[in-house]
Amino acid sequence: MDGAAHFSKERVFRGFLVWFCFWGLLSLTCAGSLTVSRQNFEVQKHLKRLNKPAFKSIQSPDGDIIDCVHISKQPAFDHPFLKDHKIQMEPSYIPERLFDENKVSEKPKERVNPVTQLWHKYGVCSEGTIPVRRTKKEDVLRASSVKRYGKKKHRTVPQPRSADPDLINQSGHQHAITYVEGGKFYGAKATINVWEPKVQSPNEFSLSQLWILGGAFGQDLNSIEAGWQVSPDLYGDNNTRLFTYWTSDAYQATGCYNLLCSGFIQINSQIAMGASISPVSGFHNPQYDISITIWKDRNEGHWWMQFGDGYVLGYWPSFLFSYLADSASIVEWGGEVVNMEEDGHHTTTQMGSGQFPDEGFTKASYFRNIQVVDSSNNLREPKGLNTFTEKSNCYDVKVGKNDDWGHFFYFGGPGRNANL
Ligand SMILES: *[C@@H]1O[C@H](CO)[C@@H](O)[C@H](O)[C@H]1NC(C)=O
Ligand SMILES: *[C@@H]1O[C@H](CO)[C@@H](O)[C@H](O)[C@H]1NC(C)=O
Repeated sequence: MDGAAHFSKERVFRGFLVWFCFWGLLSLTCAGSLTVSRQNFEVQKHLKRLNKPAFKSIQSPDGDIIDCVHISKQPAFDHPFLKDHKIQMEPSYIPERLFDENKVSEKPKERVNPVTQLWHKYGVCSEGTIPVRRTKKEDVLRASSVKRYGKKKHRTVPQPRSADPDLINQSGHQHAITYVEGGKFYGAKATINVWEPKVQSPNEFSLSQLWILGGAFGQDLNSIEAGWQVSPDLYGDNNTRLFTYWTSDAYQATGCYNLLCSGFIQINSQIAMGASISPVSGFHNPQYDISITIWKDRNEGHWWMQFGDGYVLGYWPSFLFSYLADSASIVEWGGEVVNMEEDGHHTTTQMGSGQFPDEGFTKASYFRNIQVVDSSNNLREPKGLNTFTEKSNCYDVKVGKNDDWGHFFYFGGPGRNANL
């Protein structure tokens, strides 16, 4: 009797437990699937905003889809200030060039070759449309949130003067750059050697770019950036891609990569932001480089960008910026990686070609013909060029000057190495 009573009490208790767990699990699952479907909805909404209706879509060998979007339907025109904007189809001028950069070098060993983009193998976008790299669901899901997709995670720029070791250690960012400051700059140019550096983990990156900066390094820093990057997080692969970035509040609320928010107005039908560059340079093999010019159109105030010698890509309207609505105060050129390793380990993520500057041509990565645009719209050699690195035994920079390459520098390194 006693045993039976005990037995039935236990049965009741177990029954209760099963019942409790069943509903508990069910509500957890429901909450879970509600969250998932809410996230799905947000992602789909964002994709719809970014991926505009295409005239035609081109499948690139690297897995990208390039949409040819009508020029007046591009993401820029979602911006309330651009609703009635009349697209400027060409800049009122292009800065006078200082060097004949198409000149074939007298030294055959220093010949370099032009590059294109991988998707060109499978088609072209017609005039009146612009090529836009289609954003996939996976791309957005890799971001920390739908809102942060296309924006920098790590909000820093190289700050040569505040080379405070604490700051450097915290951010994990490492640079090897050259820079000029203390003037009014109206643009900059460089020809950048293209490589495909190894990036150790998906949340790290490696890039080579120029920075046009306005304002101090405070909460309202203005920046326009362009170059190439390897960023598994942003693109889902290790390819070397052409990119741009802009911000007018130190990477907080404004700005983004490429065309991933409203801002940059593209006019060019041949070059896609964020698309893979091909081919890339090889060690002891043919070298490839890209020219990037960014300058301020003094009539309209817009900041224009040209890729190579022939491709005027488009412009950032002046109203996006505060300091840069007038001029830039610092120009920087060089490489950056982020080191996400913990416990004092250093990443093996490469910068540039992964070789130190002393290795020289066909081995180390370079920037050549670096120039700034002065107040009379001329390209000029930078005066008082400085260099900066946080950890020169991982990534270094070395400047030079000659007749063919004007001001140039080699930069980069392997990251973790025997000399650390
Ligand atoms: C960073 O931290 C390490 C170890 O905590 C220290 O030895 C080093 O001096 C710090 N600064 C830099 C620039 O690495
Ligand atoms: C990118 O490179 C890393 C390390 O080199 C590798 O582990 C990873 O599989 C690569 N990712 C892709 C998508 O190829």
